[in-house]
Amino acid sequence: MTGEVGPSEQRKRAAALAACDLIDDGMQLGLGTGSTIAHLLEAIAARRLQVAGVPTSQATTAACRRLGIELLGPEEVEVLDLAIDGADEIDPWLNATKGGGGALLREKVVASMAERFVLVATTEKVVDRLADAFPLPIEVVPFAVTPVQRWLGQRGYEGGLRLADGEAPFITDNGNHILDLRHPGGIEDPAVEEIRINQLPGVVTPGLFVDMAQLALLADAHGNVVERTVASR
Ligand code: A5P
Repeated sequence: MTGEVGPSEQRKRAAALAACDLIDDGMQLGLGTGSTIAHLLEAIAARRLQVAGVPTSQATTAACRRLGIELLGPEEVEVLDLAIDGADEIDPWLNATKGGGGALLREKVVASMAERFVLVATTEKVVDRLADAFPLPIEVVPFAVTPVQRWLGQRGYEGGLRLADGEAPFITDNGNHILDLRHPGGIEDPAVEEIRINQLPGVVTPGLFVDMAQLALLADAHGNVVERTVASR
C-alpha cells in the first residue's frame, strides 16, 4: 500500500471538498453514506469544523466517532441546516437513486429533515433516466420480499434480492432486506413511480429521491467540480 489515491477517488474527493465549502461552524448536518461521503467526513475533521451531524448509517456513525465529529440523533434536531450525500444515479431534475450501500432509508429520513440537500458525485452518475443501468434499491421487510419482487416483476422490473458476500440476504441497519431492481429503458416518471412502489405492502421505501436535492456537485474527468441545479439543466 502506497497510500496514494487513485483518479476515481481524487474525483470523489474533489466533489466532497466542494461540498465541505458549504459548511460553516455551528451547523447541524445530515451526514450521508458511501465512499464519496467518506472524503467529506475526512475534510470536516481536517478543517476542524465545529459541527454536529445526524449519521445515515452505522458506517458513517463509526467514521464520525473515529474522526471526532459530534453526532446527533434525529430526535435531537428539528431542521438540519444542510444534508450532504452521494448518489448512485442523478437525473437532469436532480432526482436520484440511492442505496447502493444499503443506507437508503436513513438517508431519506435525514435528507427530508434538511433545509438544503446537496448531492456529491462524479459526472458518470448523471443519467437521462433512472434505474435503466444501475438497479433501484428497494428496502423491504423480510416477510414481503417474494411478493414484492413478484409484483414489481409484473411491472417490468428485473433483478433480485441483494446478497451479502454472495450468500445470505443482505440485512440493512434497520433489519430489512433489499431488492435491487432495474427497469429496462429507465423510470419514466420518478414521482409517480415512488408512490406506486411505496404503496406495495411490505415496502419500507424505494431508493428514489424525488424533488429532494437543490444542488449537485459533480466532479468531471479532470477533477473540476460542476454545480448543477434544477434550473441549470
Ligand atoms: C448508500 O446507501 C448510497 O446511497 C450511497 O450514497 C451511494 O451508493 C453513493 O455511494 P458512493 O459515494 O460510494 O458512490
